Amino acid sequence: MKKLIVANWKCNPATLRQAQDLFRAIIKAVPKRKNAEVVICPPYVYLSGFRLQASGFKFGAQDVFWEDAGAYTGAVGPRMLKSVGATYVIIGHSEHREHFGDTNDSVRKKVAAALKGGLRVIVCVGEKTREADASEYALYVKKEVEEALRGISKAALKNVVVAYEPLWAIGSDEADRPESTLEMALYIRKIIAGMFGRMVAQSFPVLYGGSVNTGNARAFLRDGGVDGLLVGRASLDPKAFGKIVEQASIL
Ligand code: PGA
Repeated sequence: MKKLIVANWKCNPATLRQAQDLFRAIIKAVPKRKNAEVVICPPYVYLSGFRLQASGFKFGAQDVFWEDAGAYTGAVGPRMLKSVGATYVIIGHSEHREHFGDTNDSVRKKVAAALKGGLRVIVCVGEKTREADASEYALYVKKEVEEALRGISKAALKNVVVAYEPLWAIGSDEADRPESTLEMALYIRKIIAGMFGRMVAQSFPVLYGGSVNTGNARAFLRDGGVDGLLVGRASLDPKAFGKIVEQASIL
């Protein structure tokens, strides 16, 4: 299976001009890749300012609303995203849960609508802390996965990826250890097995995110039991991002 390397630009950079420069630098820095699929997720508004086709990348958004159109000031629907070239959408990122009020319920509605609209979905889950005992934070993640995917069909599941992002590892200097990511990746596949059956769960893609950098990307992909990475800060640095993609494509 191809490794999936997702660049989450978050709310960066501040202008279209800078975004276009960054995009060009990334095209230069990211090597040709057979074994990795690269997905760039810039802020919505930049999607139409990029020459998407020529780049060889896939594109994604960082959120979506659950209706395609209507009186919903400020919202962007699945068909809009598709029509400007997005293939993927990140849903339920912890920063979106924190600052824009996403809940497990809104995440579920967004996932269902995005799938219906023909997008591939990257659902983010992850515990806030590991201070509690393992069974407690595992249950927290279980609930996030189950509620996000409740009601979707086995066929639609083919277009779903779960990104495991422990909150304490996001934007910090402390990434998870690949050994515990491996445990969580297995656990997430077990939850998927419980919901959709063991056959689909075995090949179900799980990503890791949270302080991924050039120094740890390879270890996560080799020892963390994941099929790809969700990269925040390092995706804004073309050289670093290029190295991460390179590591993924030669594994
Ligand atoms: P980070 O962000 O790589 O900067 O920790 C990851 C994410 O939030 O997706």
